[in-house]
Amino acid sequence: MNTFHVDVQTRYFARFSSVSDLRSLLQDPLFKENPRLILGGGSNVLFRADFPGIVLRNELRGIQLVSETDAHYLVDAAAGENWHGFVMECINRNWAGVENLSLIPGSVGAGPMQNIGAYGIEIKDVIDSVEAMRMADGKILRFVNSECAFGYRDSIFKQAERDQWVILSVRFRLNKRPVFQIDYGAIQEELDRENPDRITIRDVSNAVIRIRRSKLPDPDELGNAGSFFKNPLVPLELFEALRSKWPDIPVYPVSEQIVKVPAGWLIEKAGWKGRRVGNCGMHGKQALVLVNYGGATGDELYAHSSRVLESVRDMFGISLEREVNVIPPVAQAGP
Ligand code: FAD
Ligand code: EPU
Repeated sequence: MNTFHVDVQTRYFARFSSVSDLRSLLQDPLFKENPRLILGGGSNVLFRADFPGIVLRNELRGIQLVSETDAHYLVDAAAGENWHGFVMECINRNWAGVENLSLIPGSVGAGPMQNIGAYGIEIKDVIDSVEAMRMADGKILRFVNSECAFGYRDSIFKQAERDQWVILSVRFRLNKRPVFQIDYGAIQEELDRENPDRITIRDVSNAVIRIRRSKLPDPDELGNAGSFFKNPLVPLELFEALRSKWPDIPVYPVSEQIVKVPAGWLIEKAGWKGRRVGNCGMHGKQALVLVNYGGATGDELYAHSSRVLESVRDMFGISLEREVNVIPPVAQAGP
């Protein structure tokens, strides 16, 4: 149940497929006495060891059109729905807005937690609100978009309210008329093969799927959890110093004083791309993806990420931050 294919056990396991099931589980003494973890598809977690508590697998299902206006559809998707399945349903029904997020593994419910993003879109751009149950007392609350404190791979559910809520469903505001986000170079190149006047959301989705398949490893074949680190935010002064030494360093502007540098480039320059150490390594086609070649333990994978982190810090003076949820959690900045 984790896409790193780390062989770990949990002390207790339960699945829930209705809100009333979940409520009963929350009242169970076992639940109150043990550490707990809500699991969706397990595609953004690294278990360093057996889990000494209760893992709850979210299997809430359902996709519903709630209402519509001239411009928008409001659509509810239950947290246990498969994310890519939901995207495909939107494309089939011509609900626009999530096509750039095609083929991201995992569940709908984990999307707001990480504020998943790809190819110029983040889930926050299409979220109206998030419905969640507080584990402490079973109370259900709806967080409107502005209350979710969304940031780059970040939200209130990952920070101030971490481990307090079970996300039950996500309400999306989708477009009747597509607003295409196709500036990302690789998408443009893929779409150039299509007739530019007749691009559809399915074309964009297919382009994204082709690009992703060309560089990201399929977790069914090679254990991984996507990008292992975040792309770091770097002060302009440090960036200028780095650019004088490495003129080809890529950069994305963020503000007047801050830029974003692709971690994949830093890791590749530090010599880790495609280099295998034991059963671990950074992927040969995408250096930001930590892979389990088979049989690696969570601790081995974690130790490898520390080696990479330290060498990037030594070489560039930049501390990478892990994007994947490490369980049990460790101090983010350190190795
Ligand atoms: P899990 O791994 O099951 O859980 C992740 C975290 O969310 C855990 O802390 C868990 O406790 C919490 N959580 C899960 N469900 C709930 C819930 N219902 N309520 C409260 N908390 C919950 N991510 C991107 O953003 N962009 C990408 O392009 C991308 N590409 C990827 C490519 C590959 C090949 C892989 C393997 C991963 C990729 N990811 C990407 C990462 C991952 O797919 C996303 O983070 C996804 O949202 C994780 O969903 P999940 O259901 O598997 O979450
Ligand atoms: N690069 C390299 N070498 C590499 C990989 C990347 O030099 O091996 C440099 C290149 O300059 C390339 C740039 O990094 O142009 C960006 O690479 P890419 O387009 O593959 O995207 P990324 O920044 O590495 C981010 C997200 C991905 C998301 C893609 C597409 C993060 C941490 N990762 O990766 O999300 O799919 O953009 O938008 O922001 C994930 O979160 O798990 C994930 C896969």
